[in-house]
Amino acid sequence: MSLKISPARSLPTAVDAIVLAVASDKCSDRALKARGLPVTALRTQGFTGAADQVAFVADSSGRSAIVIGAGASKSIDDNRLRRIGAQAVRSGSRSKRLGVDVLDLIEAGSASVKASSIRALAEGLVLGSYRFTEYRSDPKPAVLTAVSVAGVTGKAATDAFTQGLKIGEAQNFARDLVNRPGGDLTPAALAQEAVKLARRERLTIEVLNLAQIRRQKLGGLLGVNRGSTHEPRFVKITYTPRAPKGTLALVGKGITFDSGGLSIKTGEGMMTMKMDMGGAAAVLGCFAAIRAVAPKCKVVGYMPMTDNMSDGDATRPGDVLTIRNGTTVEVLNTDAEGRLVLADALSLATEDAPDAIIDLATLTGAVEIALGGRIAAVMSNNDAWLDDLETAAESAGERMWQLPLPADYRSFLDSDVADLRNISKSRGGGTITAGLFLQEFVGDNIPWAHIDIAGTAWSDADDAETTKGGTGYGVRTLLEVARTFTPRRR
Ligand code: BES
Ligand code: MN
Ligand code: ZN
Repeated sequence: MSLKISPARSLPTAVDAIVLAVASDKCSDRALKARGLPVTALRTQGFTGAADQVAFVADSSGRSAIVIGAGASKSIDDNRLRRIGAQAVRSGSRSKRLGVDVLDLIEAGSASVKASSIRALAEGLVLGSYRFTEYRSDPKPAVLTAVSVAGVTGKAATDAFTQGLKIGEAQNFARDLVNRPGGDLTPAALAQEAVKLARRERLTIEVLNLAQIRRQKLGGLLGVNRGSTHEPRFVKITYTPRAPKGTLALVGKGITFDSGGLSIKTGEGMMTMKMDMGGAAAVLGCFAAIRAVAPKCKVVGYMPMTDNMSDGDATRPGDVLTIRNGTTVEVLNTDAEGRLVLADALSLATEDAPDAIIDLATLTGAVEIALGGRIAAVMSNNDAWLDDLETAAESAGERMWQLPLPADYRSFLDSDVADLRNISKSRGGGTITAGLFLQEFVGDNIPWAHIDIAGTAWSDADDAETTKGGTGYGVRTLLEVARTFTPRRR
């Protein structure tokens, strides 16, 4: 990356613009004047310190100043700092060197600014400066080349800052993977990215090719791959710390393009379907920063990879597949392919008997109908595990909301010919019945949570730390879950 983001004790003099933040309750004329800010210019722009406001002015020494509204002091948390970081680099993108002086928002005047806030701010700076230019013939270089952040002093603060940069970069890596076209990022290419990552981060990796996937009897993955000319892959990647305290399994859906198969999607419905490996991207993103976060637990990632196409021998509606764990599935809609490949992956994860499992998948269009594009759905077989996950997601600033897994809905998946059908007999609740389908492949005594990211893996608009296109949703939560993981007795 050409942008250099560095921590500093105080604001360097050699910057082209500075970024300050003002809380709405500290935005009186007197308070602004005391900070050397031009009251009239700010008021002309309607500046009140309300959250998300941005004003461009000059400070008392004539230097360009970007003033960001932080909202009410008592509402300022790490998520606000992450947002401000992103807003700083977005609004400062036309300057060459930027000085960011916003940490006074947290415990004003104190030398010991909270580490988690510094981490969140650093994440925001990296996330807000994301650009995807790989497919431009003539990408204009970014104007902004250096960002210096004042108020970061001492080892704890600098470490938190560096960790935040790493986490942001890991999420940007996931975004790159999601944004790459399905015709380029084939299953083999995605697996190759995982191999490169494993080398770089000193992780163990196993990549199964078609013959090995056959030998392992991954019938769901094979069934989905049957209509494709590209070989599938199954990637297992492992981080092992010294003296691991428990094992966390992460499963990610890796459909590199979802045409729907023979149950083909509309042209419109396919336009964003390169994002259908967003679950695998989030898992890989987590591994990209895992050394920086250094969890005490072992972390194992499982990623089934294929596209879902409709070549001459593609799986037909009515075909029956046998999943890794022996369960047979009648495929009545080839567009409900995610659950088929995840069934194999969850079976394999279960065989390894981890202390807990999380899967992430762009699984159902229904989740966006239910919760919109900014909130993922989460379902679980274990309340304590769900609680841990929700706590982690909250501090990571990724929103999710629980949906139930009602036992009586399970009968909607009863097949006339096989153990299960892959779509519900009932019209509504598509996100829930998909979750119930997955649950069939998880060991009863393993705490498991399923996150449906079909709405959140992609964004149609830029907004602070969120970028248009692939969002990298899930990377931060997974890292926070791993960082705080403690295996529970069960
Ligand atoms: N990959 C899609 C889900 C999706 C939809 C992701 C929109 C992102 C945006 C998934 O494989 C799918 O096609 N699901 C079907 C399930 C249905 C056939 C039961 C759906 O949601 O329509
Ligand atoms: Mn599909
Ligand atoms: Zn899909």
